Amino acid sequence: MTFGEEVGPRAFVNDGAYLPALYGRTKGHPLRRRQRQLVDALLPKIAAPDPENGPIDLEAMFPGAGRIELEIGFGGGEHLAWQAARAPSAGFIGAEPFINGVAQLLQKIDAESLQNIRVRHGDARPLIETLPAAAIDRIYVLHPDPWPKKRHFKRRMISPWFFAEAGRLLKPGGELRVASDIPDYVRWTLMHAQGTPALAWTAERASDWRERIEDWPQTRYEAKALREGRRPAYLVFRRR
Ligand SMILES: C[S@@+](CC[C@H](N)C(=O)[O-])C[C@H]1O[C@@H](n2cnc3c(N)ncnc32)[C@H](O)[C@@H]1O
Repeated sequence: MTFGEEVGPRAFVNDGAYLPALYGRTKGHPLRRRQRQLVDALLPKIAAPDPENGPIDLEAMFPGAGRIELEIGFGGGEHLAWQAARAPSAGFIGAEPFINGVAQLLQKIDAESLQNIRVRHGDARPLIETLPAAAIDRIYVLHPDPWPKKRHFKRRMISPWFFAEAGRLLKPGGELRVASDIPDYVRWTLMHAQGTPALAWTAERASDWRERIEDWPQTRYEAKALREGRRPAYLVFRRR
Protein backbone atom coordinates (compact mmCIF):
# COMPACT_ATOMS: atom_id res chain seq x y z
CA MET A 1 0.00 0.00 0.00
CA THR A 2 1.25 3.48 -0.78
CA PHE A 3 0.69 6.22 1.69
CA GLY A 4 1.74 9.74 2.48
CA GLU A 5 1.30 11.21 -0.96
CA GLU A 6 -1.82 13.19 -0.06
CA VAL A 7 -0.63 14.66 3.17
CA GLY A 8 2.88 15.66 2.13
CA PRO A 9 5.15 17.77 4.28
CA ARG A 10 2.25 19.35 6.17
CA ALA A 11 1.82 16.03 7.92
CA PHE A 12 4.11 17.12 10.69
CA VAL A 13 2.25 20.32 11.49
CA ASN A 14 1.75 19.14 15.03
CA ASP A 15 5.25 17.97 15.71
CA GLY A 16 6.02 18.22 19.41
CA ALA A 17 3.34 18.50 22.05
CA TYR A 18 -0.38 18.31 21.34
CA LEU A 19 -2.60 21.36 21.08
CA PRO A 20 -4.19 21.89 24.48
CA ALA A 21 -7.65 22.64 23.01
CA LEU A 22 -10.13 19.79 22.80
CA TYR A 23 -12.20 19.72 19.59
CA GLY A 24 -15.44 17.91 18.88
CA ARG A 25 -18.69 17.51 20.77
CA THR A 26 -18.63 17.04 24.53
CA LYS A 27 -22.44 17.06 24.92
CA GLY A 28 -25.40 15.91 22.84
CA HIS A 29 -29.05 15.46 23.79
CA PRO A 30 -29.87 15.62 27.54
CA LEU A 31 -29.09 12.42 29.44
CA ARG A 32 -31.96 10.14 30.39
CA ARG A 33 -32.77 9.86 34.09
CA ARG A 34 -30.95 6.54 34.58
CA GLN A 35 -27.92 7.82 32.69
CA ARG A 36 -27.82 10.94 34.89
CA GLN A 37 -27.95 8.74 38.00
CA LEU A 38 -25.06 6.65 36.75
CA VAL A 39 -22.99 9.73 35.92
CA ASP A 40 -23.64 11.09 39.42
CA ALA A 41 -23.23 7.87 41.42
CA LEU A 42 -21.18 5.32 39.43
CA LEU A 43 -18.76 7.54 37.52
CA PRO A 44 -17.05 9.00 40.64
CA LYS A 45 -16.45 5.45 41.92
CA ILE A 46 -14.76 4.23 38.75
CA ALA A 47 -13.18 7.44 37.49
CA ALA A 48 -9.53 7.21 36.45
CA PRO A 49 -7.25 9.38 38.60
CA ASP A 50 -7.12 13.02 37.56
CA PRO A 51 -3.89 13.58 35.58
CA GLU A 52 -3.59 16.96 37.28
CA ASN A 53 -2.69 15.07 40.47
CA GLY A 54 0.52 13.74 38.93
CA PRO A 55 1.79 10.34 37.78
CA ILE A 56 -0.72 7.50 37.81
CA ASP A 57 -0.08 4.37 39.88
CA LEU A 58 -1.52 1.51 37.82
CA GLU A 59 -0.95 -1.09 40.55
CA ALA A 60 -3.16 0.98 42.89
CA MET A 61 -5.74 1.33 40.15
CA PHE A 62 -5.85 -2.35 39.19
CA PRO A 63 -4.23 -4.42 41.98
CA GLY A 64 -2.77 -7.64 40.58
CA ALA A 65 -4.12 -7.10 37.06
CA GLY A 66 -2.49 -9.38 34.49
CA ARG A 67 -2.76 -6.85 31.68
CA ILE A 68 -3.66 -3.20 31.22
CA GLU A 69 -5.40 -1.86 28.11
CA LEU A 70 -6.33 1.68 27.11
CA GLU A 71 -9.04 2.85 24.71
CA ILE A 72 -8.90 6.41 23.43
CA GLY A 73 -12.21 7.91 22.29
CA PHE A 74 -14.41 4.92 23.13
CA GLY A 75 -17.61 6.54 21.75
CA GLY A 76 -20.56 4.53 23.13
CA GLY A 77 -18.15 2.09 24.82
CA GLU A 78 -19.34 -1.06 23.07
CA HIS A 79 -15.82 -2.19 22.14
CA LEU A 80 -14.39 -1.36 25.58
CA ALA A 81 -17.19 -3.19 27.42
CA TRP A 82 -16.76 -6.22 25.13
CA GLN A 83 -13.01 -6.41 25.72
CA ALA A 84 -13.43 -5.92 29.50
CA ALA A 85 -16.10 -8.62 29.75
CA ARG A 86 -13.90 -11.22 28.07
CA ALA A 87 -10.80 -10.44 30.19
CA PRO A 88 -11.96 -9.95 33.79
CA SER A 89 -8.44 -10.22 35.20
CA ALA A 90 -7.18 -7.36 32.99
CA GLY A 91 -7.60 -3.65 33.77
CA PHE A 92 -9.14 -1.32 31.18
CA ILE A 93 -8.93 2.45 31.01
CA GLY A 94 -11.22 4.35 28.65
CA ALA A 95 -11.10 8.05 27.85
CA GLU A 96 -13.94 9.94 26.18
CA PRO A 97 -14.92 13.62 26.44
CA PHE A 98 -18.48 13.14 25.08
CA ILE A 99 -20.70 12.75 28.15
CA ASN A 100 -23.45 10.92 26.26
CA GLY A 101 -20.88 8.26 25.25
CA VAL A 102 -19.61 8.02 28.83
CA ALA A 103 -23.21 7.54 30.02
CA GLN A 104 -23.71 4.73 27.49
CA LEU A 105 -20.59 2.97 28.71
CA LEU A 106 -21.75 3.36 32.33
CA GLN A 107 -25.03 1.65 31.42
CA LYS A 108 -23.09 -1.31 30.02
CA ILE A 109 -20.78 -1.45 33.06
CA ASP A 110 -23.83 -1.40 35.33
CA ALA A 111 -25.87 -3.95 33.34
CA GLU A 112 -22.97 -6.40 33.03
CA SER A 113 -21.47 -5.69 36.49
CA LEU A 114 -18.06 -5.03 34.93
CA GLN A 115 -15.48 -4.44 37.66
CA ASN A 116 -12.38 -3.82 35.58
CA ILE A 117 -12.99 -0.51 33.76
CA ARG A 118 -11.83 2.93 34.88
CA VAL A 119 -13.19 5.92 33.01
CA ARG A 120 -11.72 9.27 32.18
CA HIS A 121 -14.48 11.64 31.19
CA GLY A 122 -12.34 14.09 29.24
CA ASP A 123 -9.37 14.48 26.96
CA ALA A 124 -7.24 11.33 26.75
CA ARG A 125 -4.02 13.27 26.16
CA PRO A 126 -3.18 14.53 29.68
CA LEU A 127 -3.98 11.04 30.95
CA ILE A 128 -1.64 9.49 28.39
CA GLU A 129 1.16 11.80 29.53
CA THR A 130 0.79 10.79 33.19
CA LEU A 131 0.70 7.02 32.64
CA PRO A 132 3.95 5.17 33.39
CA ALA A 133 6.28 3.93 30.66
CA ALA A 134 6.19 0.32 29.41
CA ALA A 135 3.03 -0.43 31.39
CA ILE A 136 0.26 -0.89 28.80
CA ASP A 137 -0.38 -4.10 26.88
CA ARG A 138 -2.68 -2.68 24.26
CA ILE A 139 -3.91 0.73 23.08
CA TYR A 140 -6.99 1.21 20.89
CA VAL A 141 -7.79 4.25 18.74
CA LEU A 142 -10.86 3.22 16.76
CA HIS A 143 -12.20 5.56 14.13
CA PRO A 144 -10.63 8.74 15.48
CA ASP A 145 -12.26 11.96 14.31
CA PRO A 146 -10.86 12.39 10.78
CA TRP A 147 -10.58 16.21 10.59
CA PRO A 148 -10.33 16.03 6.79
CA LYS A 149 -9.45 19.68 6.11
CA LYS A 150 -5.75 20.45 5.94
CA ARG A 151 -6.10 23.39 8.27
CA HIS A 152 -7.52 21.00 10.90
CA PHE A 153 -4.82 18.32 10.62
CA LYS A 154 -3.31 19.55 13.87
CA ARG A 155 -6.50 18.44 15.65
CA ARG A 156 -5.96 14.79 14.71
CA MET A 157 -5.32 12.36 17.56
CA ILE A 158 -2.73 10.47 15.51
CA SER A 159 0.35 12.68 15.41
CA PRO A 160 4.10 12.50 16.07
CA TRP A 161 3.25 13.28 19.70
CA PHE A 162 0.81 10.37 19.81
CA PHE A 163 3.17 7.82 18.27
CA ALA A 164 5.98 8.88 20.62
CA GLU A 165 3.63 8.42 23.60
CA ALA A 166 2.31 5.08 22.32
CA GLY A 167 5.91 3.85 21.98
CA ARG A 168 6.63 5.01 25.52
CA LEU A 169 3.50 3.49 27.10
CA LEU A 170 3.48 0.06 25.48
CA LYS A 171 5.28 -2.89 27.00
CA PRO A 172 7.72 -4.63 24.66
CA GLY A 173 5.51 -6.77 22.40
CA GLY A 174 2.48 -4.59 23.28
CA GLU A 175 0.04 -3.59 20.56
CA LEU A 176 -1.49 -0.44 19.17
CA ARG A 177 -4.69 -0.92 17.18
CA VAL A 178 -5.96 1.90 14.96
CA ALA A 179 -9.06 1.66 12.77
CA SER A 180 -10.20 4.18 10.21
CA ASP A 181 -12.56 4.17 7.26
CA ILE A 182 -10.99 7.33 5.80
CA PRO A 183 -8.20 6.42 3.31
CA ASP A 184 -6.32 9.67 3.94
CA TYR A 185 -6.33 9.02 7.69
CA VAL A 186 -5.04 5.48 7.12
CA ARG A 187 -2.14 6.86 5.05
CA TRP A 188 -1.56 9.54 7.67
CA THR A 189 -1.37 6.90 10.42
CA LEU A 190 1.03 4.69 8.46
CA MET A 191 3.22 7.66 7.63
CA HIS A 192 3.50 8.66 11.28
CA ALA A 193 4.19 5.06 12.24
CA GLN A 194 7.12 5.07 9.82
CA GLY A 195 8.63 7.90 11.85
CA THR A 196 8.40 5.79 15.03
CA PRO A 197 11.04 3.04 14.97
CA ALA A 198 9.73 1.66 18.29
CA LEU A 199 6.52 0.51 16.58
CA ALA A 200 6.28 -1.89 13.66
CA TRP A 201 3.22 -2.34 11.45
CA THR A 202 2.44 -6.06 11.64
CA ALA A 203 0.65 -6.49 8.29
CA GLU A 204 2.23 -8.96 5.89
CA ARG A 205 -0.59 -9.25 3.38
CA ALA A 206 -3.63 -7.12 2.46
CA SER A 207 -6.04 -9.32 4.40
CA ASP A 208 -4.12 -8.45 7.59
CA TRP A 209 -5.41 -4.87 7.48
CA ARG A 210 -8.57 -5.26 5.39
CA GLU A 211 -10.23 -7.75 7.71
CA ARG A 212 -11.10 -7.27 11.35
CA ILE A 213 -9.42 -9.82 13.58
CA GLU A 214 -11.45 -12.15 15.75
CA ASP A 215 -11.03 -10.31 19.08
CA TRP A 216 -11.90 -6.92 17.59
CA PRO A 217 -15.65 -6.32 17.80
CA GLN A 218 -17.38 -3.85 15.55
CA THR A 219 -17.81 -0.30 16.85
CA ARG A 220 -20.73 1.98 16.12
CA TYR A 221 -18.66 4.10 13.73
CA GLU A 222 -17.45 1.04 11.89
CA ALA A 223 -21.05 -0.13 11.38
CA LYS A 224 -21.94 3.34 10.05
CA ALA A 225 -18.95 3.34 7.67
CA LEU A 226 -19.91 -0.07 6.28
CA ARG A 227 -23.56 0.98 5.86
CA GLU A 228 -22.35 4.00 3.90
CA GLY A 229 -20.06 1.91 1.69
CA ARG A 230 -16.69 2.78 3.26
CA ARG A 231 -14.41 -0.13 4.03
CA PRO A 232 -12.30 0.35 7.16
CA ALA A 233 -8.64 -0.49 7.58
CA TYR A 234 -7.61 -2.32 10.76
CA LEU A 235 -4.01 -1.39 11.59
CA VAL A 236 -2.00 -3.26 14.20
CA PHE A 237 1.42 -2.01 15.36
CA ARG A 238 3.70 -3.92 17.70
CA ARG A 239 6.14 -2.41 20.20
CA ARG A 240 9.60 -3.70 19.33
C1 LIG B 1 -15.62 9.12 15.31
S1 LIG B 1 -15.81 8.83 17.01
C2 LIG B 1 -15.45 7.08 17.18
C3 LIG B 1 -16.01 6.49 18.45
C4 LIG B 1 -15.76 4.99 18.66
N1 LIG B 1 -14.33 4.72 18.85
C5 LIG B 1 -16.31 4.17 17.52
O1 LIG B 1 -15.50 3.63 16.73
O2 LIG B 1 -17.55 4.05 17.41
C6 LIG B 1 -14.34 9.57 17.72
C7 LIG B 1 -14.40 9.68 19.21
O3 LIG B 1 -13.17 10.23 19.72
C8 LIG B 1 -13.50 11.07 20.79
N2 LIG B 1 -12.38 12.02 21.02
C9 LIG B 1 -12.06 13.11 20.30
N3 LIG B 1 -11.01 13.75 20.84
C10 LIG B 1 -10.64 13.02 21.93
C11 LIG B 1 -9.62 13.17 22.91
N4 LIG B 1 -8.77 14.20 22.86
N5 LIG B 1 -9.55 12.26 23.91
C12 LIG B 1 -10.42 11.21 23.95
N6 LIG B 1 -11.39 11.02 23.04
C13 LIG B 1 -11.51 11.91 22.05
C14 LIG B 1 -14.78 11.75 20.33
O4 LIG B 1 -15.50 12.34 21.39
C15 LIG B 1 -15.52 10.60 19.69
O5 LIG B 1 -16.33 9.89 20.59
